[in-house]
Amino acid sequence: MVNVAILGFGTVGSGVAEVLTGHERSIARKADGLVKLKYILDVRDFPNSPFAPLFVKDFSVIESDPDVDIVVETIGGATVALDFTRRALEAGKSVVTSNKELVATHGYELTQLAREKGVCYLFEASVGGGIPIIRPLSQCLAANEILEIYGILNGTTNYILTRMIRAGLSFEQALKEAQEKGYAERDPSADVEGHDACRKICILSAIAFGRHIYPDQVPTEGITKVTLADVDYADGAGKKIKLLGRAMKMEDGKICAYVAPHLVDCSHPLAGVEDVFNGISVRGDAIGDVMFYGRGAGKLPTASAVVADVMDIARNLGHRKALCWAPGGPDAACGTDGLASRWYIRAEAGADSLRAALGEVKLLARSGAPAGEAACLTESELTQGQLREKLAGLETLSVIRVLN
Ligand code: HSE
Repeated sequence: MVNVAILGFGTVGSGVAEVLTGHERSIARKADGLVKLKYILDVRDFPNSPFAPLFVKDFSVIESDPDVDIVVETIGGATVALDFTRRALEAGKSVVTSNKELVATHGYELTQLAREKGVCYLFEASVGGGIPIIRPLSQCLAANEILEIYGILNGTTNYILTRMIRAGLSFEQALKEAQEKGYAERDPSADVEGHDACRKICILSAIAFGRHIYPDQVPTEGITKVTLADVDYADGAGKKIKLLGRAMKMEDGKICAYVAPHLVDCSHPLAGVEDVFNGISVRGDAIGDVMFYGRGAGKLPTASAVVADVMDIARNLGHRKALCWAPGGPDAACGTDGLASRWYIRAEAGADSLRAALGEVKLLARSGAPAGEAACLTESELTQGQLREKLAGLETLSVIRVLN
């Protein structure tokens, strides 16, 4: 029998408890033995919970119990969660987590510690919620040189953009709706400012390219500046605005990773990824393009990925499952300065001024555009620096990359 302790009884932790106990028999069959929930750690009281007898408030109860084999960390953040994860690994227990902040900031250290202790540190649920992506990337696609990964990595912002595009809601109205539906937090900044997607692209980069990339090495822009005017102009050009995380290996071996809104052509599969769904595209040198699609957030989809990691460890208890990469450093990543693309520009200017500044452009139209506003797509690919120079004399309102 394998014993599990869950740290944190929030949305994901309670989902894990439900799935582990609700599917106990089929899990036992597939994991070659019983996987038993022994403790739940939370500072709060849950007297009416069916799991009430399992609650503890002191982590050392779990840490010092030799019968606990696997600790599921669903606390979130990188303070208490870091301390408990280190202590659990030190105590020879495997750890499974959905905590992308912790993996993105301390993943190198924690995978090394797990390796030293001969245990596992698995985090399938940290990217893409219930979508299998970490294991496919690290195992099924292992024969490939990964060339590029890009995708919609945040469900909340995808929901907001979908509502802006489909229902004509403003950013503020769509955010309020996302909060009412329980997708966005009361403080939605991690989602709408792009930090959540940034952490996820860091994790994917480490797995795909073999070096730790820290969030502060990833230029990150969220969706707070996207307006309905931009949505309408994009629509007129047959495109949708999507927040993408993107990472690729440059010719010098450095990793270029960033998060930013993009105009995506309606014919691209990512344009059809709507609401809270995520879509992740991986390009390998042997396989070409592969896409992963599904529910990127939510209690049970995320619990599905966490419990699968638990079962993987239970099935292979005593055999370490290695997920590791080389340390990061300033030489691991480059910014986006050298990355050329086509651009969407909306400016307080006449069409002639846009043409004069940018050369050949495709002018865009929207109904109700005020006099003195123009928008276009550049025909040629430009780096950010080249674009900045060309736009120096113009009052720009929006500047967004176009996905090639
Ligand atoms: N806030 C995240 C999202 C949760 O909306 O995608 C899943 O990581």
